[in-house]
Amino acid sequence: MQTAVKQVRDLAIEQPSSVRVFERFGIDYCCGGRKPLEQVCEEQQISLPQILEKLAEAQQSAPEPTEPWTTRPLAELVEHIVQKCHAPTRSELERLTALSHKVRSRHGSLHPELTQVEGLVQQIAEEMAPHMDKEERVLFPYIISLEETRRRGLPKPYAFFGSVATPIASMMAQHDIVGVALASIRELTNEFQLPDGACPTYHALYTTLADFERLTHRHVHLENNVLFVRAIDLAGKD
Ligand SMILES: [Fe+2]
Ligand SMILES: [Fe+2]
Repeated sequence: MQTAVKQVRDLAIEQPSSVRVFERFGIDYCCGGRKPLEQVCEEQQISLPQILEKLAEAQQSAPEPTEPWTTRPLAELVEHIVQKCHAPTRSELERLTALSHKVRSRHGSLHPELTQVEGLVQQIAEEMAPHMDKEERVLFPYIISLEETRRRGLPKPYAFFGSVATPIASMMAQHDIVGVALASIRELTNEFQLPDGACPTYHALYTTLADFERLTHRHVHLENNVLFVRAIDLAGKD
């Protein structure tokens, strides 16, 4: 299938190098990624030939891994998410909480949007902490045992929550809430543009917010579009 008519989320799955291009052009490939690339370009007034050229370049400079996350064992993918997404999310949210508080208390009178930014960081931290705990304590271990029993030809493991689709739907709804809060931060900060004469802490806050947004988009993409899709598929095979 031609790249232009493929859904953005599918391109992100098939060609992980495309994620950098989507980030650069502000294209949502995780929660809102169920749209063909050509439609996204039209909506966001981005040149389709330019994106196609950048995607081809990215693929050439970063060859795709031989075994992508769509086929690697789910236990490995879970381990990757916990180490590379959950651990930095916890540490960065701690930093962002302190940074947003400091910058708001120093510059909030001149820049009232900083009060909203601090509130949104707080909201994301309160949403993400129990969310990741639930994934690590309940959902991920269940997905790993589901994969293991399937591999050994045994019946599906018992789950108090019934179908695996139930906790997955609730996790995806929470991802959406965090996605909306991040989009609000991007808008309030005018795409992370610093005001003239911003102090180093202001710089640190905006850089960390931009990095955190990228990290969260990758995190949510790996769960919504790869791990959860594969887990539901696995659970459905009876
Ligand atoms: Fe997660
Ligand atoms: Fe999650």
